[in-house]
Amino acid sequence: MTAGDVTDRRAVQAVPVIVLGLGGVGRALVRQIVAARPAHARRFGLALHVVALADSGATAVASPLAGARHAVPLHDPLLLAFVDAKAAGRGLVDVADDRAAVIPSPLVGARHAVPSSGTHGDAPAWHHIPTPHAIVVDCTAADATTPHLRAALERGWDIVLANKLPLAGPLDDFAFLTGNGVDAGEGVVPRRRGRARWEATVGAGVPLIATLSRLVAADDAVARIEGTFSGTLNFVAAELRAGRPLSEIVREAMARGFTEPDPRTDLGGHDMARKALILARMLGWEILLDDVTVHGLYPPEWDDPSHPDHVADVDAFLERLPELDAPAAERVAAAKAADGVYRLVAMIADGRAAVTPTVVPADSPLGRLAGTDNLVAFHSRWYDTAPLVLQGRGAGVEATASGVLADVVDLAMRRGGTAAPVERA
Ligand SMILES: NC(=O)c1ccc[n+]([C@@H]2O[C@H](COP(=O)([O-])OP(=O)(O)OC[C@H]3O[C@@H](n4cnc5c(N)ncnc54)[C@H](OP(=O)(O)O)[C@@H]3O)[C@@H](O)[C@H]2O)c1
Repeated sequence: MTAGDVTDRRAVQAVPVIVLGLGGVGRALVRQIVAARPAHARRFGLALHVVALADSGATAVASPLAGARHAVPLHDPLLLAFVDAKAAGRGLVDVADDRAAVIPSPLVGARHAVPSSGTHGDAPAWHHIPTPHAIVVDCTAADATTPHLRAALERGWDIVLANKLPLAGPLDDFAFLTGNGVDAGEGVVPRRRGRARWEATVGAGVPLIATLSRLVAADDAVARIEGTFSGTLNFVAAELRAGRPLSEIVREAMARGFTEPDPRTDLGGHDMARKALILARMLGWEILLDDVTVHGLYPPEWDDPSHPDHVADVDAFLERLPELDAPAAERVAAAKAADGVYRLVAMIADGRAAVTPTVVPADSPLGRLAGTDNLVAFHSRWYDTAPLVLQGRGAGVEATASGVLADVVDLAMRRGGTAAPVERA
């Protein structure tokens, strides 16, 4: 027995977990939960019981919910079978298995069907799971989850987000979901009972949110946050510096799965802008996504439907990208001549957030970044002469899922398990 191990099996606490979204991150999360079972039991006396899985079309639960008195976990072989089916491109709704009930219940468009306290109406099936506590994990890429996350918190359940969209929308949603960060004024402080974590929304597995939360909790005055939060864009910057054409780099980044399905989300700086917005809001700044200044790596007219130069879709974008090869190479050469590195940098300071192409000194931490690493520097009252710097892999489903899992365990440990028993199926 090692220090910190919990060997008494009776001490193990079961915590129900509901996973929304079974893309790369959701699937990696489920696999990591299964793989970590012995460590979680031994170290923390904790058993994460996945009681529901949902994709865009259905929810899978262990047995029919009608008349159920307790949450019933999906067994690991079944969890892995669902994950494998999703990896093979099938929908949950297409997976027939008599060990589970798969209930068609899309979240999209269900804003009107969110349960109010005590009634669950036409809401997705996981709302009906009879448990006083659960952790709902949003691994989707949809803002349609927002009202469901709000409902979960109201009910006293906890939430964990990898999905940044719910935190980049209306200020009220941000304040309610995170329970901190916005000086919402008298009477607007959200009333909800569950807790939230959202580490993977900004830094994948790198604990940027936990670090900033600690600075805010200590009332350290954060004057400036700067960094680069896009593994994709850091890869592009490194390859541009190596002398390759932008269009070729983007095609490779897409082929290697580094970009979002639509690479304009990355190259236009939009994804990084949402991350900068989340950090700025955590400082209590009441700003919207439209308030974030964004200059990406392609002309803004390409995004403007009213402009003759508008680029309609991904194929058209890739076709036009070679037009930018020469100008990008010129900017990179100019930066190199000045002993600098050309990259997209986020700056959060003086109540404003901006994402802009910047030439950073080659020998600075931002200049030395390699591969898909992210880096963020917090300048504050107590970190004034040298900033507090975090660096590490900024993308990838395994690193992201590990950030999500750490959040889940953190919340589970705060609760100390369920008040009601969780039946084994
Ligand atoms: N990949 C990374 O490196 C990374 C890093 C940090 C953060 N993130 C964030 O993590 C989230 C997941 O990323 P991913 O790469 O796993 O995305 P993904 O592969 O696109 O998967 C998204 C999943 O969400 C499901 N979904 C979409 N709308 C839904 C809805 N309304 N209700 C329930 N499920 C819904 C999809 O269902 P179907 O399977 O039915 O289509 C799919 O399973 C995203 O928000 C992303 O921005 C990703």
